[in-house]
Amino acid sequence: MEKPIVVANWKATKTIKETIEWVKDAKPSLGGIDYADIVICSPFTSLPALASLLDKSNVKVGAQNVSRFKKGAYTGEVTVEMLDGLAQYCIVGHSERRKYFGEKDDDVIEKVKNLLEHSITPVLCVSNLDQLDSYIERGQMIIQEAEKIIFVYEPPTAISGGGAYRPENPEEANNNAGKIEQKIGKEIAVIYGGSVNPSNVALFCSQTNIKGVLPGQASTDSDTFLSLLNAIRPSGLVK
Ligand code: PGA
Repeated sequence: MEKPIVVANWKATKTIKETIEWVKDAKPSLGGIDYADIVICSPFTSLPALASLLDKSNVKVGAQNVSRFKKGAYTGEVTVEMLDGLAQYCIVGHSERRKYFGEKDDDVIEKVKNLLEHSITPVLCVSNLDQLDSYIERGQMIIQEAEKIIFVYEPPTAISGGGAYRPENPEEANNNAGKIEQKIGKEIAVIYGGSVNPSNVALFCSQTNIKGVLPGQASTDSDTFLSLLNAIRPSGLVK
């Protein structure tokens, strides 16, 4: 059985100081985990600290966004070149970026292209199958380079948003993850995101089409995140 991928999305939480504290609390336990591939996606400002604190460890670092543009006159943007050496993964197309920042499918595709050119793994959020169709229509590399992409099936209605957990039914999520893989037409990594927490993570990870999870709220507190990882220790997993 392949290791589940666990991508923590801290969203807009954590100062540099809080990042250092989180790592201090979690690193000793995280270091002993060999049954999951762990990625922590922090705000840009915390990336240098995170990359240095987790250097040569089993835990990888990711960003939560990247500019669709390369170097140039784009005030306030963080380009893919700037992520080089800091992040090995980058979340793209999150529904919160669409909702609050007007991000469109064209932007998402440009970001995926930039990341692939720089060998940073895109963690591509897919809200539904229509959105996947639109991505494919705009960028054939979504299929051609699908092995280099982590697809996240993340229905916006299931996102906790820092409030109450409201996950999608795991069987339904499994079904939809399977449809994403079918549409891409090759073996790919599809993970699930939306209210994943220590109580439901094993259920999601035991679904045949779901290769891992993307917890938001449940990743920001180090103890909760470690409980989540404990819940998917292989002994507890049936696949
Ligand atoms: P959540 O967030 O786990 O708090 O629902 C997931 C996400 O939106 O990335």
